[in-house]
Amino acid sequence: MMNRRFLTIGLGLALAALALSAGLMLRVVLSERSAPSAGVATSVSFGAPFNLVDYNGDPITEAAFEGRPSLLFFGFTHCPDVCPTTVYEIESWLRDLGPAGEEMQAFFVSVDPERDTVEFLSDYLKPQSDRVIGITGTPEEVWQMARSWRVYWKKIPLEDGDYTMDHFASIYVLDRAGQFFDKISYGEEAESAKAKIRAALGS
Ligand code: NI
Repeated sequence: MMNRRFLTIGLGLALAALALSAGLMLRVVLSERSAPSAGVATSVSFGAPFNLVDYNGDPITEAAFEGRPSLLFFGFTHCPDVCPTTVYEIESWLRDLGPAGEEMQAFFVSVDPERDTVEFLSDYLKPQSDRVIGITGTPEEVWQMARSWRVYWKKIPLEDGDYTMDHFASIYVLDRAGQFFDKISYGEEAESAKAKIRAALGS
């Protein structure tokens, strides 16, 4: 009787362990598949090469993300809150890091290239920041680039016939090879954000 009971308990434990490991494996597969996705399904490789223009009208490619670590985020100049806050926060984090943070680059890619021309992006960003470089281009090329970074955005029509944009609000932290290193969420604590930036600078 005792032996059979132990056998039953043993079998139960083995089954529980099997279920647990299967669950863990499933979670690993799912997280690998979704990280660092913003929820946009695409077959384009992550962070694919691109040909766009910066806010000076000069050509810019993925080579701009190589050699130095970078912060990369996506938005639009008509954004009422998220984008101005993000620019402001990047400025303050990098200022806080002092000389150590000088090597960090920062890029703002407009997901609203129809309105965000080179001139518009320049007039918007330059008064706010001498660190954040604007990127725009033809809508097709900008959107292809944003899709490759798994970025979500959506045009939201307004009653007056105008539109606003809903968009992915996290900041990507890239390493010196221009590869994904970490992600800073919108509203993340400054100390946490600065720790990620320091880690990328030390990478
Ligand atoms: Ni925004």
